[in-house]
Amino acid sequence: MEFNQEVKKATNHIYQKISKVLPEIEWASHAPYIHEINKLKKEKNAVILAHNYQTPEIYHGVSDFAADSLALAVEASKTSADIIVMAGVHFMAETAKLMSPNKKVLLPDMGAGCSLSSSITGEDVRNLKKQHPGVPVVSYVNTSAEVKAETDVCCTSANAVKIVKSLGVKKVIFLPDNYLAQYVASQTDVEIISWKGICMVHDQFNDQEIHEIRKNNPEIKIIAHPECPPDVIKASDFAGSTSGMIKYVRDNQPKKVMMVTECSMSDNIQVENPNVEFIRPCNLCPHMKKITLPKILDCLKNETGEIVMDQETIIKAKTSVEKMAAIGR
Ligand code: 13P
Ligand code: SF4
Repeated sequence: MEFNQEVKKATNHIYQKISKVLPEIEWASHAPYIHEINKLKKEKNAVILAHNYQTPEIYHGVSDFAADSLALAVEASKTSADIIVMAGVHFMAETAKLMSPNKKVLLPDMGAGCSLSSSITGEDVRNLKKQHPGVPVVSYVNTSAEVKAETDVCCTSANAVKIVKSLGVKKVIFLPDNYLAQYVASQTDVEIISWKGICMVHDQFNDQEIHEIRKNNPEIKIIAHPECPPDVIKASDFAGSTSGMIKYVRDNQPKKVMMVTECSMSDNIQVENPNVEFIRPCNLCPHMKKITLPKILDCLKNETGEIVMDQETIIKAKTSVEKMAAIGR
């Protein structure tokens, strides 16, 4: 792939946007892919949905819609494209397929999983339901379609509290993120039966490091994702989903901020918030980072990495995601 004059001219406006977070030397290798992907997207009537944790060249270079997992699920149900490429992880691509079963949904790397999603199976949920008969099951979208098929209503970190409260019951089985379950329990009077899942990225943070950073930067705002351990959330100024965190920065324009989450997000939003100084804790999600421009191009060109699900699973799993989308943020 050559970084020639045509590519340079067609992609220059994108580089101007992200030059602060992407060295010029790296741009020369990304730009030809960006140019090719954007041409192919038009030819094939495809859209690229990207999660907020994707790298800046994907987030700003080729995505049509970049957001948190709740907005990605809703957007997947609205698009009129023939092909959806999910620049994210496997459960997000499955969720897109559930919301748009008649569209072709592609994932550029089938190995892009999630430590939360892999912590629980449909069989585990069936066993929990036997142990707690009649107790409704709320599952994080970070689960397989098999788990969603056993679920009453899904949630994301953006609406977990709202969804649990909306059920109007005293007890809920909340899966699979143990920390998010503790966060929901702290915000409601509902008894929560949780599972042992953790996000391998957010679990790496600890409150000691938060206190240390605050000591050295007294004016800093520290904002955390609810997948973090409870001590970290307690030591932070705000907790919210990835889009909730972005909104916090946009609305409050803190002089200095630390986003306690996957670190590509700070790069992505630095672009729109040039006056905010980001202190970057560099924890990367190895699954999200499996998605690259060459893999996006390859899957779009050859239509590989298609998400295929049987009709029965689609029908059973779809309802729990649709109920979540109807309740909203
Ligand atoms: P949200 O974008 O829903 O906050 O999810 C964070 C995450 O870890 C997704 O994998
Ligand atoms: Fe899963 Fe955590 Fe990676 Fe999100 S950041 S995909 S929750 S492992």
